[in-house]
Amino acid sequence: MDALARDLNDLSAIGADPAGGITRVAWSPELMAAYAAFAERGQAVGAHADVDAAGNAFLRWSAGGAAGAPGEGGAGADGATPAFLIGSHLDTVPRGGAYDGALGVLAGLDVLRSFQARGDDPGCPVWVTAFMDEEGTRFGTALFGSRAFAGHDLSDLGSRADRAGVTIAEAMAACGHDHASVGSAARIDAIRGYLELHIEQGPVLEQSGEDIGVVTSIVGLLGLQVRLEGQANHAGTTPMGLRRDALAGAARAVLELRDLARHTPAVTANVGTIAVEPGGKNVIPGACDFSVDIRAADRATYLTLDEAARGILARIAAAESLALTITEIYRLEPVPMATAFVDALERAAELEGASFRRLPSGAGHDAQIIAPHVPAAMLFVPSRGGISHNPAEYTTPEQCALGSRVLARAVMLLAGA
Ligand code: HGY
Ligand code: MN
Ligand code: MN
Repeated sequence: MDALARDLNDLSAIGADPAGGITRVAWSPELMAAYAAFAERGQAVGAHADVDAAGNAFLRWSAGGAAGAPGEGGAGADGATPAFLIGSHLDTVPRGGAYDGALGVLAGLDVLRSFQARGDDPGCPVWVTAFMDEEGTRFGTALFGSRAFAGHDLSDLGSRADRAGVTIAEAMAACGHDHASVGSAARIDAIRGYLELHIEQGPVLEQSGEDIGVVTSIVGLLGLQVRLEGQANHAGTTPMGLRRDALAGAARAVLELRDLARHTPAVTANVGTIAVEPGGKNVIPGACDFSVDIRAADRATYLTLDEAARGILARIAAAESLALTITEIYRLEPVPMATAFVDALERAAELEGASFRRLPSGAGHDAQIIAPHVPAAMLFVPSRGGISHNPAEYTTPEQCALGSRVLARAVMLLAGA
């Protein structure tokens, strides 16, 4: 087993969910244990390990020795050479797989290991990061760490709570972090470029037989949290025509949003969480809360989705005599990858003898937060059966290793340029 495969295997044991798969959510003991394993392995290759104010874990490395943390006066700090950043995330969806996010972080570590072993000097400090809470599983705050790193204002998120009622500020405090300090994680100015290796999470590469996907753009996402309120009442005595059934309204919404996506090219819609109040088999559902995730690859289509979705929800709420509340959770326009970086990834794949194709990403990634600020791009390796966000997620050790080698080549081509 090579070092990357061993790291992936070791990490998959951290947060192993008794119900199957791996669950490591934001600010959890499991995620912190994964950070510790990452830091320990980074220190073994001569990197400086730290965690920033937003909970992003970093390894900071340079060919001449560890690259100090921002503010510590080392390379990449204020006034010093900007660093090249490799990243992804170590948090997961509920019962996720071993590769989504983890591969990109551990491949970054693997790149440092290969530079160290071969004495390669990319020409600037290289940082590897695990961005905090990419998935948004616990708080619905997708891409929290990369947004903080890019300088987005996250100060209003401290009071957002998980299902147990624990707020982000409280969860951060339990890990020794202060939500009021998140703004100091804004360090986008300290980097010169960004690359992220990820599993494809779809079927294209497996079906085409190609080794590497060079990502051209990342999908736009709109996340809404919806609440429909009707009236809880007796399930047996209330005539069908007099009910204000919140779940019936939600059911209509699920199907109409699906139809919207089915009838609009390159659009997806998903309702992935739903909860009913008060939740009794003989009680008409009085309220229903559900998530809506809608995506489009092209900007013109993306810009129509908010109004379309809200229109559907409002029409159904009126027809079912329900009160409607919509809270926007995330809004991210589609983002193109930097042309020069896309070209460099193709060149790197050629140099490694890998076959490749260009493709858009239908998944959200930290790269889409970084790309508007500094040149950024992504490469994909195949996903067996196109399966992801599932314990069955799998990419062979050879495919992972090839992705890591292409990543290392691309960093060498781009970092010193
Ligand atoms: O939701 C997504 O697209 C990603 O997996 N975070
Ligand atoms: Mn994911
Ligand atoms: Mn991911």
